[in-house]
Amino acid sequence: MELAPTLKSQTIQNRMREVGINPNYWYPVAWADELQPGKIIPVVIWQQAVAVYRDQNLQLHALEDACPHKGVALHEGKVQDDHLVCRYHGWKFNGDGHCVHIPYLPKEQKLPCAQAVSYPVQEKYNIVWVFPGDKELAEDTPLPDVPEYDHPDWLAILIPDNFQGHFSICNENTMDVFHGFLHQNLQGWFDPVLLNLRQNQNSVKVEYRVSYQGWITKFLGLSEQGNQVTTRTICIKYDYPHYQSCLDGVSSIYLIRLPVGMTETKSFSLLFLKVGLPKWILKQIKPQLSQMIWRFLFKKFLDQDVEMVESEQRTYLANPGRRYVEINPAIIALQRLIVGQYEDFMQQSRKLLNHNHRKGEQSSVVTRGISSELTSENP
Ligand code: FES
Ligand SMILES: [Fe+2]
Repeated sequence: MELAPTLKSQTIQNRMREVGINPNYWYPVAWADELQPGKIIPVVIWQQAVAVYRDQNLQLHALEDACPHKGVALHEGKVQDDHLVCRYHGWKFNGDGHCVHIPYLPKEQKLPCAQAVSYPVQEKYNIVWVFPGDKELAEDTPLPDVPEYDHPDWLAILIPDNFQGHFSICNENTMDVFHGFLHQNLQGWFDPVLLNLRQNQNSVKVEYRVSYQGWITKFLGLSEQGNQVTTRTICIKYDYPHYQSCLDGVSSIYLIRLPVGMTETKSFSLLFLKVGLPKWILKQIKPQLSQMIWRFLFKKFLDQDVEMVESEQRTYLANPGRRYVEINPAIIALQRLIVGQYEDFMQQSRKLLNHNHRKGEQSSVVTRGISSELTSENP
């Protein structure tokens, strides 16, 4: 659906800052090269604690971070072959979460039926992805497509980040190109104009025209001389729950977000730049160059964004009933999409809960989470 790109005051959704996620998508939890064989890491995906480990055969596994025996955090245990051993009594679990060994159980006795919830997990683009929702949907749910990742023309820069803010605030920051004002001292973009806006059930796609001047235009290869004004189009696509933002074939960034909880969001983002260096030189200095560009250039932009996001969050917490004014229709569209995704998921979950209830079946971890959200009357 095409929407008018007109800037005018609109009512914003006050409950945005407490809306939950639709867990039926792949979420990033770690950089894959940091998860060595035998290592277990604790991660949190929207308030669900998960222990992710890589076994000695390099396979990844993700189990609920709670031992089915007494609830001790499984990430404190150790990996033995392809099993995870709980630190407390040494019960051993396979990658599906089944208990396969209890060290003090007499051999002739049958193992109890104890199973930790397991999650679909995979690695791609040097990111470990976990699917916290309905397992049956995992296989048919695609990861973001990142064609630049293996392409020799692009320099990849991995960007980790952590915001003390609700994921909707972080996502609005990305959609909101009008905040170039914030980055003036870094010679960011200026004179933004919203050109067009499209929205459907899963995505919001926006184009802005922006201008650049100064050293950054030279660095990005936008102009020969830094003193010229260069006008370009930025295309931003929010494909729930992740982003892609491109600047006319010059740069491309994938903002891959992990909503941790009501006031915390992590990012595992991939920035790609076209750098005007011969390929053989680029190949040799890629890691060092990526680090330098990240530390001395883009981190400065991101630090300013984090300050704004966290300031918004603090003010919200101090007074959740305060009203705000928004004039960018792209932000309104984004809010509508985030709320819509959550509501769709809640609706499906309610149906599933009722269905299971009638059949007397046990709920999955997701629907258990939903039933507690329903009873606490979150939006
Ligand atoms: S609590 Fe994990 S083995 Fe006892
Ligand atoms: Fe920014």
